[in-house]
Amino acid sequence: MLPTSFNGVTLRELSDQDSFEELTELLHLAYAPLAKQGLHYLATHQSPGKTKDRCNGAKTVVGERDGKLVATVSFYPCDKTDGSPWLDRIDVASFGQFAVHPELQRLGIGSKLIECCEFLAIADGANHLALDTSENAGHLISYYSKKSFAFIEHVQWQCTNYRSVVMSKSLRF
Ligand SMILES: CC(C)(COP(=O)(O)OP(=O)(O)OC[C@H]1O[C@@H](n2cnc3c(N)ncnc32)[C@H](O)[C@@H]1OP(=O)(O)O)[C@@H](O)C(=O)NCCC(=O)NCCS
Repeated sequence: MLPTSFNGVTLRELSDQDSFEELTELLHLAYAPLAKQGLHYLATHQSPGKTKDRCNGAKTVVGERDGKLVATVSFYPCDKTDGSPWLDRIDVASFGQFAVHPELQRLGIGSKLIECCEFLAIADGANHLALDTSENAGHLISYYSKKSFAFIEHVQWQCTNYRSVVMSKSLRF
């Protein structure tokens, strides 16, 4: 499926040549408005080492334009997805570290990245694709709702200063 080009951005898997410093800068930049809202998502301030840890066991897809990383998402297969009753299910995969460069948002790149995760989840044998986000991020909850992700449950992570909602989409019809 990858690499593929969309709106001048090449989507491909993260490679050994990519820099976790650059990936982390992109995450900090994209997540900055959430930090401004007082929502301490890990991706607002995590170190490059933490980014690397969070990519371990994940399939990370990046968007590249003119040699720069401009978008990313990390897909976690079912056996790497856990932390709440729903996320602990063996048929639930998930995604996180989801970001598009602020100058390239609202062009459909994020939607393409979610499609990539759905593709990877189906290939992994998952029945559901889940995510979690702050219960206070209304714009993200409605963004995901429009993409057929529904509220499942609340979860409180140790590393965040808010309660999260787990949302999920069925992949089987
Ligand atoms: C969340 C995020 C990754 C989405 O990426 P994106 O590329 O902007 O997403 P899309 O372009 O697919 O969709 C965004 C909006 O643009 C709309 N859109 C998509 N294509 C469009 C187009 N061609 N023209 C106009 N609008 C379009 C979508 O319908 C959506 O509308 P909405 O705001 O009314 O919901 C991005 O906004 C981001 O990096 N945010 C900061 C970090 C973050 O919040 N991460 C998620 C934490 S859980």
